[in-house]
Amino acid sequence: MGLNFRSVFASIIVSVVFLGGCSSDVVSNNPSSHSPVIHQTLKSAYADKFLIGATLNDYLVANHNDRSVAIVKQHFSAATMDNAMKWEVFNPQPETYNFTAPDNFVDFTTENDIAAVGHVLYWHSQTPDWVYKDQQGNLLSREALLNRMRQRAKLMAARYGKTIKIWDVVNEALEDDGSLRQSMYNQIIGDDFIEQAFIIASQELPADSVLLYNDYGMTRPGRRDTVIKLVTELQAKNIKIDGIGVQGHWDMQRPSISEIATSFDAFIATGLPIHITELDVDYLGREEFFGANVDITKLVATPQNNPYADGQFPATADQELGDRYVDIFKLFLKYHQNIERVTFWGVTDDNSWLNGWPVAGRTNYPLLFNRDGSEKQALKRVIQLGSDY
Ligand code: GLA
Repeated sequence: MGLNFRSVFASIIVSVVFLGGCSSDVVSNNPSSHSPVIHQTLKSAYADKFLIGATLNDYLVANHNDRSVAIVKQHFSAATMDNAMKWEVFNPQPETYNFTAPDNFVDFTTENDIAAVGHVLYWHSQTPDWVYKDQQGNLLSREALLNRMRQRAKLMAARYGKTIKIWDVVNEALEDDGSLRQSMYNQIIGDDFIEQAFIIASQELPADSVLLYNDYGMTRPGRRDTVIKLVTELQAKNIKIDGIGVQGHWDMQRPSISEIATSFDAFIATGLPIHITELDVDYLGREEFFGANVDITKLVATPQNNPYADGQFPATADQELGDRYVDIFKLFLKYHQNIERVTFWGVTDDNSWLNGWPVAGRTNYPLLFNRDGSEKQALKRVIQLGSDY
């Protein structure tokens, strides 16, 4: 990799916490010794292991007084915009660009020494129809669509390339069985669409950019093996790819820790590092669905699948969620030399997409901070684990 984020950001965080930059919320007096006690945060506990990220939304990057922003500044060393850079939101019509939220995002991450992640250049979902069509409504030729993809990468590079150094280049282009997902991209471009996307990204983004392939369900043997084949082929052709993005939209049982470990071993064998890009643990479960296919029809909320609808997460449930997170982070620690970043998809439970997927209108509890911004026991246990390691 051109730039080692882990060490750059670890040194920033260590300087802030240990060289006198401590704010009152990280230092207190130890009554027995009168010497200061460092209260670890997520990013300080994992500073020499990997970046710890969260997603931000338009509101948070514009409203710096929000309590979630305070949490982000205190606990996170990386950030991803949840929607603002997706093609549909960023560039909904041919000449219409929504720069405000991404501009706020790069300002916020720069001011706070947070590693900014670009999400996402090319994805079959949340991409407007006009992208694939000419002015008469006819499907574009392969060359014309590749050119449109190039224009998007050029614009991102010109406006955000100095700040955003990690990019999800292609998202979710594979099915569970490892076959190529049928999308407008491969319908128009052909089966080399992923390869073409990486060629474009490597030519247009700055040379020190970190280019990722990102997907859910990465423990599925079919998808896992195709990702490895894809990486190996790109490497053989000298096409730049710098990491494997494992989304990590998991639930309380699935995937098992050993399935995750098996997939990590396989990914690491390619020589590329892993980025955990979208971690959350679906406490309420997702019934028959596994993975994060946003195209499915949602189920209906019932008292059985939505037991804590009042927003209060019981202590026993917090304990169970913490057990699962501790198991997951034990594994991340074991593989820390091959993991560059662990990003949570959200900050507090109220802004999680799992309140609406795969069951519409639930009150879910997948993250480490409660709806009111208070810290779950699960958070404290994850911090303790990192501090003790
Ligand atoms: C996928 C995408 C994300 C987000 C999540 C759910 O995993 O990569 O951008 O849409 O689904 O919110």
